[in-house]
Amino acid sequence: MQLPENLQEAIEKAIESFGLSRLIEAREELTERYRQQASKRQFMTTEAQRQSYVMTRLPATYAAVKMALQTIQERLPSEISIKSVLDLGAGPGTAMWAACSQFSEIEQVTLLEKDASLMALGQRLAQVSEQIAVRDAVWQQVDLEQTLELPLHDAVIFSYSIGELKSEKMLSAIQCGWQAANKLLLVVEPGTPAGFERIRLIRRQLIEWGAHLVAPCPHHVACPMADGDWCHFAARVERSSLHRRLKGGSLGYEDEKFSYVAASKTPVSLPDARVLRHPLRHSGHVVLTLCTPEGVQQPTISKKMGDVYKRARKIEWGDAFSLFKV
Ligand SMILES: C[S@@+](CC[C@H](N)C(=O)[O-])C[C@H]1O[C@@H](n2cnc3c(N)ncnc32)[C@H](O)[C@@H]1O
Repeated sequence: MQLPENLQEAIEKAIESFGLSRLIEAREELTERYRQQASKRQFMTTEAQRQSYVMTRLPATYAAVKMALQTIQERLPSEISIKSVLDLGAGPGTAMWAACSQFSEIEQVTLLEKDASLMALGQRLAQVSEQIAVRDAVWQQVDLEQTLELPLHDAVIFSYSIGELKSEKMLSAIQCGWQAANKLLLVVEPGTPAGFERIRLIRRQLIEWGAHLVAPCPHHVACPMADGDWCHFAARVERSSLHRRLKGGSLGYEDEKFSYVAASKTPVSLPDARVLRHPLRHSGHVVLTLCTPEGVQQPTISKKMGDVYKRARKIEWGDAFSLFKV
């Protein structure tokens, strides 16, 4: 996954005034602040930390949201179009960029964020977009822990933000988001045990409210993930040379692990199963780990199974899968 070129250029231009060593320092400060989660309520406190976030984290959260939206779009009936998006805990507007690149019909975007400086940075970046919806997006400084009524939009997205709210405020914020969603709610969190636990709780609550799950779950029964395990996916992010220098890595990419749940106001057709791990491809057979309504299963698909085997050879972690259909 690559950022839109004009966004990448704008980010690199925005950080020109900061020396590399100051940005590396800011990235380390930020990593430390996120590591100490419990005691910190505002993670980004300096301009250098905000700039280092857009340089090193925005590409990863963009890739995660984009991959979730691609999976969602595969399941949404063609008559459901997403024309407006509400990005909650928007930061520099990452989810807006991902949504507008996935759904070309988006006409209106509203972004709610509590950090005014991060909003200002996001607003400057948005001006380079080719899409009017991104350039003309409405940004509002809002504390999601205090806000009860949100404006209606077709899709509502919490991208890596719900985990930053006090845990006792999380479900009320989700409820407000769900009420504001004309069609779709998407919640994306880091692909860690803690991120997944939040997603599992939100999933259970959404089902209780009568939501129709869209992805990644292929069913509405209780989540079958065993204790100690967590459902997550990986989005490959291409790294620019500056990104590599900031993070001190040599690889040209990184894999962003994320967990998510998406729910719709109307039913959608779900696949039989979702691939939960990298398929194990051996000669003559493939072992899949699948989430199914009957629980997590690990079928061995052998060459003798013909077409199913052919599909299993090509399947990737995160894909939908059926043992029966083409
Ligand atoms: C990890 S960043 C994610 C930013 C962006 N959504 C992304 O995916 O890159 C979390 C964002 O949530 C915002 N946030 C945290 N608590 C908030 C609150 N109570 N109200 C509004 N925004 C909040 C933070 O300021 C920050 O911008």
